[in-house]
Amino acid sequence: MSDLRGELEAVERATGERLSSAGSEAEIESIRHDLFGRSGQLTMLMKQLGSVPAEDRPALGQLANEIRGRLESEIGDRLKALRASGLEDRLAGEAIDMSAPGRPMAVGHLHPVLTTIRDLREIFHAYGFEVFEGPEIETDEYNFELLNIPPDHPARDLWDTLYVAEPGSVEAGMPTPATDGTILRTHTSPTQIRAMRALEPPIRVLTPGRCFRYEAVDASHGFEFFQVEGLVVDRDTSLADLKGMLEEVARALYGRDVATRFRPGYYPFTEPSVAFDIGCLVCGGQGCPACKRSGWMTILGAGMVHPTVLRNGGFDPDEYQGYAFGMGPDRMTMLRHGIGDIRLFFGADLRFVTQFAEGR
Ligand code: PHE
Repeated sequence: MSDLRGELEAVERATGERLSSAGSEAEIESIRHDLFGRSGQLTMLMKQLGSVPAEDRPALGQLANEIRGRLESEIGDRLKALRASGLEDRLAGEAIDMSAPGRPMAVGHLHPVLTTIRDLREIFHAYGFEVFEGPEIETDEYNFELLNIPPDHPARDLWDTLYVAEPGSVEAGMPTPATDGTILRTHTSPTQIRAMRALEPPIRVLTPGRCFRYEAVDASHGFEFFQVEGLVVDRDTSLADLKGMLEEVARALYGRDVATRFRPGYYPFTEPSVAFDIGCLVCGGQGCPACKRSGWMTILGAGMVHPTVLRNGGFDPDEYQGYAFGMGPDRMTMLRHGIGDIRLFFGADLRFVTQFAEGR
């Protein structure tokens, strides 16, 4: 019957149009349902085949089957295409652009004081010094007693030394110092004793490290600072050895033309004691505020190891002598870079520290 033929063809046409404008899998699924569902259009038309005249039936049946086949494969193709383009969209959205420049890694660098300490290590390494470190938390015995610092020495005063409190001793806000004499070291010199007791002569050690003092903090004093201690113990060591070496070190650090001088000084653990100055790097020795108008800047204290200290370290002063020196790398770094305030070293201002990033 031509009626049924027309209806079959109309369904195919209409479905073709719906399919071509369908934009999602769900839409296509509903088209499929509208055609092939239990009361779908095509299902219903197929049912009518049974009531057409017998002579038309084969031709119409064939047509109906062809249309069903075409629509099924059209739906399948359309679904496949949609799925593929969905995947492409996703891939395009998630693509990694291999040619885009990477984000730079934040690479750290050495603090300028650490750079000075490393330079000192390198310079002294050439003279045979090895690094020997000691604890930052020390005892009164090592920090003072064994270094020949008498009990009434002002450095032991509560106002200079940071004492560790006796546990549970805080009463009305006032702790009492630990009875075992635990303190924060006020200098790196206690390591002299530790090195003498641990090593055999000839001893040549360098001790860089942090020290602590109860200071009113200002532009040139911190309650926390660095020292680099040096110790030599050997036979026939003299003040001349100390002088010659320190002059070479000053040249290595500040250039061949740097002026140097030794002045008498006093430390309980060295005898004789000296202060070592370099010509002011700011004014070249004319006198300026940086050198307090003297033309000189003190960079370290030094001297021959006191016989009592040698004995405390386990050596007979008639057999062994030695020299020791203590440098202030904070101050040396300030001189190197013309930094006017020691507090910048311990502040957390990255604008300050990143100025010293070059090459290190
Ligand atoms: N420990 C001394 C200080 O803190 C420095 C020093 C070290 C002096 C070694 C002489 C010898 O000032």
